[in-house]
Amino acid sequence: MASLPLTAERIDLPNSSSRQRVSLNEILSALSFALDLTEGAVPGHALRSCVLGMRLAGELGLRPRQRAALYYALLLKDVGCSSNAARLCQIIGGGDERRVKAGVKLEDWTKPNRPKLSTIQLLWKTVLPSAGVVERTAGILKIGLTQHRNNEEMITLRCDRGAHILRKLGLGNDAAEAVRGLDEHWDGSGYPERRIGNTIPLESRILAVAQHLDVFASEQGTDAAMKVLRERSGRWFDPELVRIAERLHRDGSLWQAALRDTPEGVTRSAAFELGPDTIDMLEEADIDLICEAFADVVDAKSTFTYRHSLGVTTAAVSIALALGLNEERTQLVNRAALLHDIGKLRVPNSILDKPGKLDAEEWRVVQEHPRLTREILSRIGQFGELAEIAGAHHEKLDGTGYPDKLTADRLPLEARIIAVADVYGALTENRPYRPGLALEQVVEIMSRDIPHKLDADCFEALISAVS
Ligand SMILES: [Fe+2]
Ligand SMILES: [Fe+2]
Repeated sequence: MASLPLTAERIDLPNSSSRQRVSLNEILSALSFALDLTEGAVPGHALRSCVLGMRLAGELGLRPRQRAALYYALLLKDVGCSSNAARLCQIIGGGDERRVKAGVKLEDWTKPNRPKLSTIQLLWKTVLPSAGVVERTAGILKIGLTQHRNNEEMITLRCDRGAHILRKLGLGNDAAEAVRGLDEHWDGSGYPERRIGNTIPLESRILAVAQHLDVFASEQGTDAAMKVLRERSGRWFDPELVRIAERLHRDGSLWQAALRDTPEGVTRSAAFELGPDTIDMLEEADIDLICEAFADVVDAKSTFTYRHSLGVTTAAVSIALALGLNEERTQLVNRAALLHDIGKLRVPNSILDKPGKLDAEEWRVVQEHPRLTREILSRIGQFGELAEIAGAHHEKLDGTGYPDKLTADRLPLEARIIAVADVYGALTENRPYRPGLALEQVVEIMSRDIPHKLDADCFEALISAVS
């Protein structure tokens, strides 16, 4: 594992529990649940894919370094996925891109001239949702005619972005290239480079098989998953990997701890067991880097929020410093602010980018995101307090916020700081329904909520920092 990871110190430990420090494995396996949200996948998809892929790799005798690269690539294979969400939403005329992403994984999109009924049904339910029959039919036909170009654009965006993030995290070239080649096909019909056979990195070929195994098994059962694998062997998938999957399927070992109803802790333990030989304990700077990378993933989802997490973080840290928080508490504010909207990866762009008012159901979906933020972050042992703070960023001191209507006595200073920074960030940024507001207007609007909803000291500190 020479190139992995980051600046981490490598020590041999049996597992990652009961320590103050956090391992690379623990943090990435937890944050992979955020990536499942963006793809509309069954929760735990990345983790199950990781178990399945590592099981296949176990039959290939990979070197430790290659196994480690594969492991992190499996967990992060969808890390570039938020970057094409807004464009996909646009292509389908403002429909729910998460539904399309989830549905398209069950379709054979290499045959646009022979679409299956299920493909047409998926498009009918998602394309131009507010249009009439004629306009929607025309929209679907247009999508069919431009499918190859759209596929290439969507996949290239996602794969390049994913590879870039893995490199930024210091996970090495092999892991980055594995993610980049996720959608290449054995027969050369994939993207982004239309590579053929063994010119596709082995790790990418494993990622592709593992991903499909989980998607189909989770939606249609393991027999259906194996059937698809057989049908696409030599076309999408490396035939040797299909043979290995067949063998493990027959002897009953392939799916152990990797089914959608397997308790999460069991799947996570299985992934840890199949993972790298050494546990990579992270330095504080490495944890910050991972938080920043996931803030980028969140911000990339919508053109309207492309700087939101970073902007809120700058404001929140400025407030923390102005209030004299010590280094440890300021670091907590920094990380919680970076990750506060990670649950928003669950919100489709049809809502995030909607130019008009949200209806009741859309508003309900939006209001779920702080709870999802808390759920995802609380999977990381060291992030218990951080999860609570980040998950409370839409709470108000008078109990009128969401999701838990917490009141002042339940809202620590760090949560109040992020709540103030979040409102400030949202008002200064462009939104689909209005441009970003000038500081004077922002101050005037926020003042109406002081002190009953937003903390007065935090607001004062913010104003002194930005004036
Ligand atoms: Fe939020
Ligand atoms: Fe936010």
